[in-house]
Amino acid sequence: METRRFAIRTYGCQMNVHDSEKVSGLLLESGFTPAGDEADADVLIINTCSIRDKAEHQLYSDLGRLREWKAERPGRIVGVGGCVAQQVGARLLKRFPGLDFVFGTHNLRHVPGMLARAAEGARTARVDEDRSLARFDLPSGRAGGGPGRRWKAFVTVMEGCDMFCSFCIVPSTRGREISRPAAEIIREVRALAEEGVLEVTLLGQTVNAYGRHDVRRGRARSEGTMPFAELLARLDEVPGIERIRYTSPHPLFFDADLIRAHRELGSLCPHVHLPVQSGSDRILAAMRRRYTRGAYLEIVAALRRARADLSLTSDLIVGFPGETRQDFEDTLALVREAGFVDSFSFKYSPRPGTPARGMEGEVPPEEAQARLRALQSLQKEQTLAYHRGRVGERTQVLIDGESRRGPEQVSGRDPQNRVVNLEVEGDRPIGPGSLVPVRIRAATPHSLLAAVA
Ligand code: 5AD
Ligand code: SF4
Repeated sequence: METRRFAIRTYGCQMNVHDSEKVSGLLLESGFTPAGDEADADVLIINTCSIRDKAEHQLYSDLGRLREWKAERPGRIVGVGGCVAQQVGARLLKRFPGLDFVFGTHNLRHVPGMLARAAEGARTARVDEDRSLARFDLPSGRAGGGPGRRWKAFVTVMEGCDMFCSFCIVPSTRGREISRPAAEIIREVRALAEEGVLEVTLLGQTVNAYGRHDVRRGRARSEGTMPFAELLARLDEVPGIERIRYTSPHPLFFDADLIRAHRELGSLCPHVHLPVQSGSDRILAAMRRRYTRGAYLEIVAALRRARADLSLTSDLIVGFPGETRQDFEDTLALVREAGFVDSFSFKYSPRPGTPARGMEGEVPPEEAQARLRALQSLQKEQTLAYHRGRVGERTQVLIDGESRRGPEQVSGRDPQNRVVNLEVEGDRPIGPGSLVPVRIRAATPHSLLAAVA
């Protein structure tokens, strides 16, 4: 049987979403076509996340259920990629007899070949680390490969992480830091702009560490990299690019030049997602975050001086080993003081091979759950207050498509990255990809409501 229609199921961060787009691009180049949905597919690829225990277990339950999917149509193929694949490797093939191939985070380019071998009955795994720049040389095709123009795109600028925060599995699933030459990034962004893309999001595990090893060793020129703020300035000059975002930066590399870039570059959005993880110096040290609460708040103050309209969002972990009630109170106080517009918060989850896993002082699960709830309810209030404060403002929305609230509204993002819903007036249809001037009329907990201005 021909196995020609593919579907990709993606978990995890934006880097994973973009990796799925790249795999999709490779498969399109190899003559595969996107399936309407998984029921219709001959090939299913699962792009996995292992940041927390729960994410990893998702894969095991998915693979259990896929036995039926495979049995429905002989010749169907299942491949697993991403961070769990990188972490567990060929052992996945042993554990799941129905699984056909496994590819690690540096082996996207091998997917078409592995698929061809799987069609001949060979089960393969490739999870070696590729430290060459060749691994960036992949199509940035849109996921699904569907027709139509795209107006937003991800662009990888660096990959890997050398920070080794004590709780985090990423340095082992994504490997060492490696930065792409600036000329290639600029070329990619120019090509996207020519295609009609208005907004680019630069991606990297610690995106503002871009080029830092080369800069430090005096090799930026020969390696073709440059300081991150300089890269932003070069991209700001690309005609047609209206909005530049980047995610996720690390506070340690948030230097004065990057803050100045927020003051000076017209297309750099007034939104920064800056993971803080904890508001307690003791816990930050145990997490090996390499900054203090005070240093973090100084960055926030400088950013606000540079851009009064800045929206700041963050990631937080509660229940890290040894976290006392007071440490947690310090985190709540920091959330207020930094004025996070939104945040993702998680219960600490011990990960294999990380130093925090062996640390003493486990926080009882009920206590961790209660802290998570308290933190999230504080954030909810703060988000709503921020939204209310923006009522009456004029801004611009880049439309993504129909709103979740129904076809009478379209939905998009403002420069601060908030979701904005817009009433559609009968005679004035608003297509995806339009940049629309609006006035904000009302606030809800999760979004803003606006009218065309
Ligand atoms: N447990 C809980 N949360 C984690 N994160 C990373 N590792 C863990 C872990 N072991 C969170 C951090 C990070 C986000 C992507 O996931 O907050 O910023
Ligand atoms: Fe993980 Fe820390 Fe690297 Fe972020 S900086 S990916 S939290 S090790």
